[in-house]
Amino acid sequence: MTKRIRKAVLPVAGLGTRFLPATKAIPKEMLTVVDRPVVQHVVDEARAAGIEHFVFITGRNKAVIEDHFDLAYELDDTLRKRKKTKELEGLLADLPAAGATSFTRQQAPLGLGHAVWCARDIIGDDEPFALLLPDMLHHSHGKGCLAEMIDAYNRHGGNLIAVAPVPDDQTHQYGIVGVQDVKAKVSKVTKMVEKPAKGTAPSNLHITGRYILQPTIFNLLANQEPGAGGEIQLTDSMIALSRLETFHAVRFDGDIYDTGSKIGFLTANLAYALDRGDLGPQLREEIERLLER
Ligand code: G1P
Repeated sequence: MTKRIRKAVLPVAGLGTRFLPATKAIPKEMLTVVDRPVVQHVVDEARAAGIEHFVFITGRNKAVIEDHFDLAYELDDTLRKRKKTKELEGLLADLPAAGATSFTRQQAPLGLGHAVWCARDIIGDDEPFALLLPDMLHHSHGKGCLAEMIDAYNRHGGNLIAVAPVPDDQTHQYGIVGVQDVKAKVSKVTKMVEKPAKGTAPSNLHITGRYILQPTIFNLLANQEPGAGGEIQLTDSMIALSRLETFHAVRFDGDIYDTGSKIGFLTANLAYALDRGDLGPQLREEIERLLER
């Protein structure tokens, strides 16, 4: 019997240097894709997968994320008095249950591995957990990326990562994996490498930013030496973990947008808005008008 995945870790301490000046005073996770902050989209994906508790690894200047996941008393009261029922219901539906969020600070930007390690006490040492990198929006036309991964976890157990192909000239920007069967939806991982030098990648399947990990990872992270970019890399500890426990890759077939980059962010806004019944048709006309200029 596999243990149920109840908790998700969301590292939100990054400085957003690729998106200045927008991210000088506003956390990059609070930038909006259509009318929802990026981090809300990712929490939506996790909730759709049955996640009950959200662990945010924050940093200085990120307190507004905590406010976003709390009641906004004055606002709620005003909406109620003005009978803006739809808006109020929307806010309340998005709100995690009381006690279902935890916030802890990564005090220094030492890498993703270090950020995940900061969650060790909140997750505990006997429960597997989900990890979602909020920059990476996974636009699914099915049940959602994490929900697909939990299905795979229920069949295979152990550790899992979502993967998707990237163009060969981009493999050096990501964690890259080799798998037993490149065509299979779920396949055993045979190799992992963080940001391989150009021309050395074992495949073009990148780690997209969705993980299910066993708590064994915390002991490995505790002793992890810095890797690529001088940072404590999660991928390096996952390589060590894959020698101890099973590791599967789940291919994600939807679209992925890196909202930490300007192009990824702009494209995500267009894609998500075009999908919406209330905005899509009119936006399409506006885009066509712009393109005709
Ligand atoms: C991190 C991971 C990398 C993964 C990527 C996805 O890299 O270390 O394995 O492919 O996220 O966005 P970062 O983007 O933090 O450099």
